[in-house]
Amino acid sequence: MSTAISPTAYNYKVVRQFAIMTVVWGILGMGLGVFIASQLVWPELNFGLPWTSFGRLRPLHTNLVIFAFGGCALFATSYYVVQRTCQTRLISDSLAAFTFWGWQAVIVGAIITLPMGFTTTKEYAELEWPLAILLAIVWVTYGLVFFGTIVKRKTKHIYVGNWFYGAFIVVTAMLHIVNHMSLPVSLFKSYSAYSGATDAMIQWWYGHNAVGFFLTTGFLGMMYYFVPKQAERPIYSYRLSIVHFWALITLYIWAGPHHLHYTALPDWAQSLGMAMSIILLAPSWGGMINGMMTLSGAWHKLRTDPILRFLVVSLAFYGMSTFEGPMMAIKTVNSLSHYTDWTIGHVHAGALGWVAMISIGAIYHMIPKLFGRAQMHSTGLINAHFWLATIGTVLYIASMWVNGITQGLMWRAINDDGTLTYSFVEALQASHPGFIVRALGGAFFASGMLLMAYNVFRTVRASDPVEAEAAAKIAVVGAH
Ligand code: HEM
Ligand code: HEM
Repeated sequence: MSTAISPTAYNYKVVRQFAIMTVVWGILGMGLGVFIASQLVWPELNFGLPWTSFGRLRPLHTNLVIFAFGGCALFATSYYVVQRTCQTRLISDSLAAFTFWGWQAVIVGAIITLPMGFTTTKEYAELEWPLAILLAIVWVTYGLVFFGTIVKRKTKHIYVGNWFYGAFIVVTAMLHIVNHMSLPVSLFKSYSAYSGATDAMIQWWYGHNAVGFFLTTGFLGMMYYFVPKQAERPIYSYRLSIVHFWALITLYIWAGPHHLHYTALPDWAQSLGMAMSIILLAPSWGGMINGMMTLSGAWHKLRTDPILRFLVVSLAFYGMSTFEGPMMAIKTVNSLSHYTDWTIGHVHAGALGWVAMISIGAIYHMIPKLFGRAQMHSTGLINAHFWLATIGTVLYIASMWVNGITQGLMWRAINDDGTLTYSFVEALQASHPGFIVRALGGAFFASGMLLMAYNVFRTVRASDPVEAEAAAKIAVVGAH
């Protein structure tokens, strides 16, 4: 067997663009997170203006962190992984470039329209119909590039990471298109094609699977490539990864009704959603264990490799949030947690601990390889970033647990005569210290992103164009 360098090269340009924009949008989206968290501490920061009010900036935060930061990380890593595991260049450079510029255009559209108050009002699907259509076109093109590349692969089998990315792409298209069915009445106003409880059910079928497929399945694709690569160990069990895949995608799609407990949704649908959510613990933990056990025999590397630490700690938070989620899906628990900060804590255990941490680890892994460098400019800065991110996440989650349980218990407390023991404002006052700690935790996390930006900038600046080009050459192992 010989190793030959083939004349063709990977398309690293689009991967580099998406990777850099992940850092840029990460800073903006999380910076805005810190700002809205501060508004909850100091309401004066709403400035009395509609476009700087919490109500308008909150959906901008969610769009920026989920679709801009998370989305760019998913595009960057999926394009990188699919090329390297299929040993072939992306099927089309121009279509890939279209997905980059189209995706950035959707994000800029969100930054302009959401503060102006244009919104469908459906959570995580706020963008009005012209932007929603652009997003659908970009997404279908993404599917063409990704699956087209798989079709022209040089390897025999399709690596499991690509299965996860593939499911994430297909299901996201399905969710987005079905949930956005609406009747436009002007350029920036449309009405949903569904009404009442049906509308709510479709919205939370979308919302929950946005979590399941956008914020979970895509990032599991990332996990299956970058954890073994960074640990320099094969995945613990390939068989478990296949079971994990089929079990996860079969179960996730049914769990949406847990967002609609005690509503007008038929009771049987609520109970079904609860049961499916509890069963979902099994594949979630199967995947987490598969990732963790990949480190067997390589645990010592955690002492010296902060990138690996990001990846492993993200798995720990994934395990934690997928234990907490099924618990919150139990109707009696949900009657306490719903509407409280407990939900917000659960969201960010997944969002900061899992989604952001694994993305950050993957980007640190890729940047030197994309720019022809042996390693990042400073390992010390990655280490500092790791601690800021971990402490920030813990402060965020712990304060929201305390707030959530406090709020839930205060809201339901009643006196002997049946009147409420506490007014809403009293529960809000009790939450104030937690809001301060959350803003502090967020500031920790966001300042780590600034260190990352500096580290990436220094690494890219030190890169030599010839070395970067050489790094993109496809090394065909076992070629004649
Ligand atoms: C510095 C980091 C961050 C801070 C300080 C922050 C802060 C916040 C705040 C204050 C809210 C509103 C909570 C409320 O309405 O009571 C929020 C909501 C939300 N954030 Fe973040 N966030 C951060 C990072 C992220 C990231 C990285 C993601 C996703 C990848 C994310 C996803 C969300 C989601 C989905 C919601 C809506 C939750 C719900 O409706 O239940 N956040 N965030
Ligand atoms: C087995 C896995 C999981 C289950 C069963 C689950 C279950 C739940 C439940 C019961 C709620 C509260 C619904 C409510 O009271 O309104 C919730 C909210 C949420 N979860 Fe999870 N969760 C899981 C994993 C995750 C992960 C890994 C993430 C993030 C990456 C995540 C993100 C969210 C978000 C964003 C919300 C807030 C939705 C909203 O109201 O805006 N979940 N989840």
